[in-house]
Amino acid sequence: MLQFRFIKASLLASKILTHSSINFCRGVPNCKGFRILRSQMGSFSTSSQSSKFLFRQLFEKDSSTYTYLLADVSHPEKPALLIDPVDKTVERDLSLIQELGLKLIYAMNTHVHADHVTGTGLIKGKVPGVKSVISKASGSKADLLVEQGDKIYFGDLFLEVRSTPGHTLGCITYVTGDGSDQPQPKMAFTGDALLIRGCGRTDFQGGSSEQLYNSVHSQIFTLPKDTLIYPAHDYKGFSVSTVGEETLYNPRLTKDEETFKNIMTNLNLSYPKMMDIAVPANLVCGIQSKA
Ligand SMILES: [Fe+2]
Repeated sequence: MLQFRFIKASLLASKILTHSSINFCRGVPNCKGFRILRSQMGSFSTSSQSSKFLFRQLFEKDSSTYTYLLADVSHPEKPALLIDPVDKTVERDLSLIQELGLKLIYAMNTHVHADHVTGTGLIKGKVPGVKSVISKASGSKADLLVEQGDKIYFGDLFLEVRSTPGHTLGCITYVTGDGSDQPQPKMAFTGDALLIRGCGRTDFQGGSSEQLYNSVHSQIFTLPKDTLIYPAHDYKGFSVSTVGEETLYNPRLTKDEETFKNIMTNLNLSYPKMMDIAVPANLVCGIQSKA
């Protein structure tokens, strides 16, 4: 299990901190092999409504994509991450980050998108030091390739990786951490594995309706009922749901597995118009060719 951590160096010397050492670099390409210290700060409010945790849901209208901005604003450097940034809205996202005084450290994707080009590559070109994150199973290039159980820290907050393949082979869901010092209720960033009252298609990119059914039931529906569901897209104007709501009202995933597979086989969806551009670009996390 990997743990990706960020902490301001000056904090390490502070007398108010106690420390436990962890291995930061195992499996991280180009890592210099240093070990950093884990801080355990004093008590603080832990609600997602608290002053510690900053959260913004952003929207890109052409592909109906949600981008999520998360930050630990109680940390001196206000480390932040973006989940599923879109190339067309990179300027908007970066100027918001600047206005809020945040330090962007990760640009993450839930999967290799077929309907838009990720903003990750553009962001890396504009903000030195930002690391791209995607699943190892995606077959994509990125600075950090994550898998089931990995933890991605931003300040004292973290996201846990859950493997949720089925829409694509490499889909993952990022879930806010366990623990009284993490946002409550929990939040799950489900990509296209689970949409509000829907789910992503399973007819390309290594998709499998059987796998998607099992992923959602074993990795998402087992989360606490009040876990907030934040998908990568919505086409009907919804912005958030909960595990409890989707287990009751999702018109596909409340069915038995055979019925679900029949529904997915008979969707008769057209070929995504951006697919031939988006998928090759996203396999390199949207890094633009210099040729
Ligand atoms: Fe997708």
